[in-house]
Amino acid sequence: MLQFLQIEVGQEYSDSCYTLAKSFTYLYENFPQLAHDVLEIENILSRSYSFFKLVQNSVNEFSEEGRGDDYINSIKICPLVRQEGVIELLKLANLEPTLSFNSDYIIGDFLAGDGYIEQITNTLLPESKRPSFINSDISHYMFQICKDAGRFAVLQDAKDLYWLRSDSLDAGIFAYGTHHIPQIERSQAAKEAARVLKIGGRWVLHDFEEGGPMARWFRDIVNTFGKTRHDYPHFTCEEMLGLAMDAGLRDVKLDYISDPFVVQAATEAEALSLLANYVIKMYGLTGLSKEINKTIELLEQYFGVDVHHLTTGNYEAKITRNALVCHGTK
Ligand SMILES: C[S@@+](CC[C@H](N)C(=O)[O-])C[C@H]1O[C@@H](n2cnc3c(N)ncnc32)[C@H](O)[C@@H]1O
Repeated sequence: MLQFLQIEVGQEYSDSCYTLAKSFTYLYENFPQLAHDVLEIENILSRSYSFFKLVQNSVNEFSEEGRGDDYINSIKICPLVRQEGVIELLKLANLEPTLSFNSDYIIGDFLAGDGYIEQITNTLLPESKRPSFINSDISHYMFQICKDAGRFAVLQDAKDLYWLRSDSLDAGIFAYGTHHIPQIERSQAAKEAARVLKIGGRWVLHDFEEGGPMARWFRDIVNTFGKTRHDYPHFTCEEMLGLAMDAGLRDVKLDYISDPFVVQAATEAEALSLLANYVIKMYGLTGLSKEINKTIELLEQYFGVDVHHLTTGNYEAKITRNALVCHGTK
């Protein structure tokens, strides 16, 4: 296969073909049935130049040069911090609003990062109730971490899901960063997700509302204290509904879901400090890295911070976030 892929144009291209061949082989060796069911082999091979261009150009703020490392570390210090939101998304991605799946149920996560949604799912659900995940991301750095964790990982842009067959997935999720897709490309991404869904498959698009606390947090705080700027337009209800309708979905609905950050620690002070540290890492807020109290004040100001003493003896610190989710059926 490598010989077939190594067509011309120099070392970098042939290195990238080698990476593509390795990715492809990894998926077939580790997930033979899933790879067989979802991968569009001829397309992948004929589009090796697209893969090359992505490997060359996929440096975004989630790369090593940006806040990628901090983002990954935030997940390591608080793995379950966003579990409540993920549970809501999983229910919306299911045919019935439950957390009961099986491995034949295939969910595409089109902004997967290191595979956070799969990681939470695998932590919360017994093996017999877990779906299978296709983790797809535009960042080579995130793709590599996801693959190194042993997940089904694909490097591609959400607006061009050429690795995936039409009508092959049971559900597709855009979440935790849909605003990173340029506004002009969102319709194409929405349609691509619909293309790869089976008839009856579930389409779920999550983000935060323009003008809401999260959008203001990004605009004021991440832009001021962050390692990388964050000037992406968020979503209006009309934009989300328009994307779903243009993608040809039925039963389209819009919901607000509770999507808080929740952490636990042995004392109130530790819980607050953990929450602040999580947020500093998650958003790469290098300008606040030693400013735990100031970060807590800012969180209080933008979202409100609740601290509860749990019956287990631990303390729970929580900030409320309400996400906007549009969902529909193909
Ligand atoms: C905030 S991270 C979320 C990662 C993961 N879903 C999580 O919840 O931890 C957003 C991810 O979207 C990816 N991304 C941004 N634009 C993309 C695009 N056009 N296509 C695919 N992935 C994209 C980034 O590389 C990044 O990994």
